[in-house]
Amino acid sequence: MLQDAWYIAAEARELKHKPLSRTIAGVPVALFRDAEGRASALFDRCPHRNVQLSGGRVVAGKLQCPYHGWEFNSQGQCVRVPALEDQSRIPKGACTRALPLLEQQGYLWIWPGDRTPRPNENPFSLPHVDESGWGYGRLQSYIRNSVDNIVENFIDNPHTGYVHGGLFRSAASHWSNTEVSTADDGVIIDIDEENQADSLLARLLVKGEVTHQDRFIYPSIVQVDYGFGPERKIIGYQICTPEEKLSTRIYVHVCWHMGILNPLVKLLMPPIGRVILNQDVGILENQGKMIERYGESFTSVEADTANLWIKATRQRLARGEKPTSRKRSVRFKV
Ligand code: FES
Ligand SMILES: [Fe+2]
Repeated sequence: MLQDAWYIAAEARELKHKPLSRTIAGVPVALFRDAEGRASALFDRCPHRNVQLSGGRVVAGKLQCPYHGWEFNSQGQCVRVPALEDQSRIPKGACTRALPLLEQQGYLWIWPGDRTPRPNENPFSLPHVDESGWGYGRLQSYIRNSVDNIVENFIDNPHTGYVHGGLFRSAASHWSNTEVSTADDGVIIDIDEENQADSLLARLLVKGEVTHQDRFIYPSIVQVDYGFGPERKIIGYQICTPEEKLSTRIYVHVCWHMGILNPLVKLLMPPIGRVILNQDVGILENQGKMIERYGESFTSVEADTANLWIKATRQRLARGEKPTSRKRSVRFKV
């Protein structure tokens, strides 16, 4: 699992007075807020007898272990041992690792890796947050499957007619001309569909020409960008956080610039987004179960080009190499 990267650990609003327990790329993490309300993340293991600190409470901005009450500050240093008469005798090694954490745009981003992030390595910055004319909504989900397979699903067009039925679009009925290309931070897929207004959503939203671009952004983000005429736009972000190899949390952020339709989109996005997301969760859990039992053994066709490139690009970027620069037109039925 890729540990040297920024991942969302939680939405900021979820972290209140109680500590939160998370696993980020295999690393157990305890999240809590100090006395000033600043969020911090500690490796979730008490140096005393190795109990999970996230099961404890926050006392005056310190994280208190649930076993013998040792208290830890946001740097992970033990600052109080209740059983000790002289607090100056707290052992030096009574500490746990603090993980880099950034609170940004309502998300708590954590770097679980051993290597510290370089100055140019920042959490992904979402566009149009708090920009006038733009609205946004958020969802979360959890899927027992790998980041690779979830990213593939979010970027994959040929499944939409089958998994999402008539809501999104109908089963393989028309041609899609796509242009797949690699970028420095991932893979871009420009999609030109020959028949665009055959779904309920499309009929509701389209005003002018529809543009559609999907994008994979390293390490685990999928951006789906729809334009409905020159003025209107809906952009969805699916941001994956690996817990374990076949266990992933998904943070969905959708933003829109739809003019007078903004209030309607705000109303409809959560329920429609939830239905679509749950359909993907269902098929991905089905796949995850089979992979858990029998391992991965895939057979691909041309329509899978983008997915194969994403996998390769992810691996190259994880090794610190540049993505192979390439571009290809792919035509398939959706
Ligand atoms: S195990 Fe944490 S205080 Fe004893
Ligand atoms: Fe889907």
